[in-house]
Amino acid sequence: MSLSDHVSPAHTIVILTGAGISKESGLQTFRDPDGIWAKHRIEDVATPKAFARDPEAVLGFYNIRRAQMGDPEIRPNAAHKALGMLERFWPGGVLLVTQNIDDLHARGGSRNLIHMHGELMKTRCNECGHLVEGIGDIETDMVCAACDAAGTLRPHVVWFGEIPLEMKAIEAALGRCGLFVSIGTSGNVYPAAGFVQQARRHGAYAVELNLEESLGVSLFQEGRYGPATEIVPAFVDELRALAEG
Ligand code: APR
Repeated sequence: MSLSDHVSPAHTIVILTGAGISKESGLQTFRDPDGIWAKHRIEDVATPKAFARDPEAVLGFYNIRRAQMGDPEIRPNAAHKALGMLERFWPGGVLLVTQNIDDLHARGGSRNLIHMHGELMKTRCNECGHLVEGIGDIETDMVCAACDAAGTLRPHVVWFGEIPLEMKAIEAALGRCGLFVSIGTSGNVYPAAGFVQQARRHGAYAVELNLEESLGVSLFQEGRYGPATEIVPAFVDELRALAEG
């Protein structure tokens, strides 16, 4: 079975990305041996309960990661840029759904983009939902500019136990795509890990691009394995050849 037997330029593509695509830009993944969850406990820094119990610890964890995004060395890599290009030439349309909270896809040129786990570079009021952009630290005594509540500002990210964003739009796209591609995600976290099954139920062809086989490898018809900066541009080149007939 090969891509060209199953995918035509008229097909819509849905791409799911995870931390692996940003690894070669200098950002840690979560579950690799040197990953973020090897150094921090999820229940200490990434749940609503943790924020209620110890807001300083939670904000501190995300403030370090926000500051890191200001580092000029952290920039979109060849994989982010290839997906930005794909959106411009693929006739059937491309929706990129990322679990990543960094802004490297947008900076890499992707526009039809859903941040299902939120965006690190935005701040939200837990009380009224007011959203602001900004790279600075969030402190526990800050006051919301919209509702005047104090101590309610938090990063605009989805914590464990919260519902991912824009699920209706994602599910609609999974229901009509002809190709589903999963890139740089270990397949540990739902609902994203279940997208491949949803897409295939509606007849999509499914391809995994990752450093190694993910937990859900058997759910994909094809897999390409290696560093994202190599395998993603090569895959996008294959799609370009298909688009050009
Ligand atoms: N190129 C491609 N893939 C890579 C690379 C690389 N250079 N480096 C690592 N990977 C792969 C790993 O092999 C692994 O399968 O990326 C995957 C990263 O998996 P996780 O660390 O589990 O990250 P992710 O799947 O995005 O996590 C999902 O979990 O904690 C939450 O909210 C967090 O959005 C995150 C979610």
